[in-house]
Amino acid sequence: MTRYAHVTGWGMSVPDRVMTNADIAKLVDTNDAWIQERTGIKERRIAGPEETTGSLATAAALKALDVANIAPTELDLIIVATSSPEHLFPSTASIVQDRIGAVDCGAFDLLAACTGFIYGVSMAAQAIRSGSINNALIIGSETLSRLVNWKDRGTCILFGDGAGAFVLQGSDEPGGILSSILRSDGSGADLLTIPAGGSSHPASAHTLDNDMHYIQMNGREVYRFATRVMAKATLQVVASANLEMADIDLIVPHQANFRIINAAARGLKLPLNKFMINVERYGNTSTASIPIAVCEAFEQGRLHQDDKLVLVGFGAGLTWGALAMQWNGPFPGARDIDPNRYRWRARLRSYYRRLGRKIEGALFDRN
Ligand code: ACO
Repeated sequence: MTRYAHVTGWGMSVPDRVMTNADIAKLVDTNDAWIQERTGIKERRIAGPEETTGSLATAAALKALDVANIAPTELDLIIVATSSPEHLFPSTASIVQDRIGAVDCGAFDLLAACTGFIYGVSMAAQAIRSGSINNALIIGSETLSRLVNWKDRGTCILFGDGAGAFVLQGSDEPGGILSSILRSDGSGADLLTIPAGGSSHPASAHTLDNDMHYIQMNGREVYRFATRVMAKATLQVVASANLEMADIDLIVPHQANFRIINAAARGLKLPLNKFMINVERYGNTSTASIPIAVCEAFEQGRLHQDDKLVLVGFGAGLTWGALAMQWNGPFPGARDIDPNRYRWRARLRSYYRRLGRKIEGALFDRN
């Protein structure tokens, strides 16, 4: 029997704190008009002192599990795609696994920069299709505000914090993730990098003095690369799913810069209303940008049963990739609500109580 991997749950979490372009203009020599014209960004969310990549990931994960209506204990695998992990190790995925109580589950972080969420969904879908797992949680989560140089106007205007998550489940019903393409060109590694903090440049007085722990980027070259690969990857993934561009209802691109999305639309000869765009409110949230945009597309009524979508992204590495998928998720308004659906939370509550631990996540505050 052929197995298919369906997106059955989705969730997002962003910090409450909004940082506008005017706020940034108080830190560096820039202005709202320049930022909006060159990037389309008006504001972004910035993590508060208590928020971390793990806490945002946990909140998004719990919402996605709630939509999918499965318990964390039913998960087989958690992948956290992130460019701003809590630590070099342990993985942020293991931290999330523990916090949500996914006690029977593997967990690892995936680093493919902003393309990480595409890579993660592709890997999990393949594991589901092979029959080795059935239920996976893929999260893109970032607190890049902790890694940008707030004195560098070329980068600090771009990024924001947030998390988005998918639950992927196996089914015999055709649909779900239809095809994916994953690509890398490491010859462009220096174009977008955090040079120090890893094993090649461990922390030292020299790395600190030279701002080597912050994001460094050649904006013009990254822009050129991004406009080259977005349209190409979209066409490739649509062809590999045996579809035509005319079959695609919505494209959800990585939200890095409005001009990059506009160039992709021109390259594909598509109107902008075929694209989900929310970069103006969140900036570039790296691995989180695509799942956050999917969540908002759903909220805005732009996703319907059996719609065909393309998710497409690019990032440091250089990396890029795309997924073609059929949207078959359960729709909260339409699906049957199982009266027992909140039982797993009661079970988890007693599990946490036994461990003497505080329960995290807004979902546990309900009922
Ligand atoms: N405010 C005002 N002026 C600025 C600012 C700013 N924030 N930043 C740069 N400038 C100036 C520059 O100093 C330069 O001045 P000069 O001509 O006197 O030297 C001028 O504006 C033009 O600078 P450019 O870098 O050529 O500006 P550009 O039009 O390329 O826009 C930007 C810069 C927005 C960064 C653009 O290059 C871009 O979006 N690149 C892609 C970046 C991206 O998407 N990165 C994320 C990848 S995903 C991931 O993996 C994290």
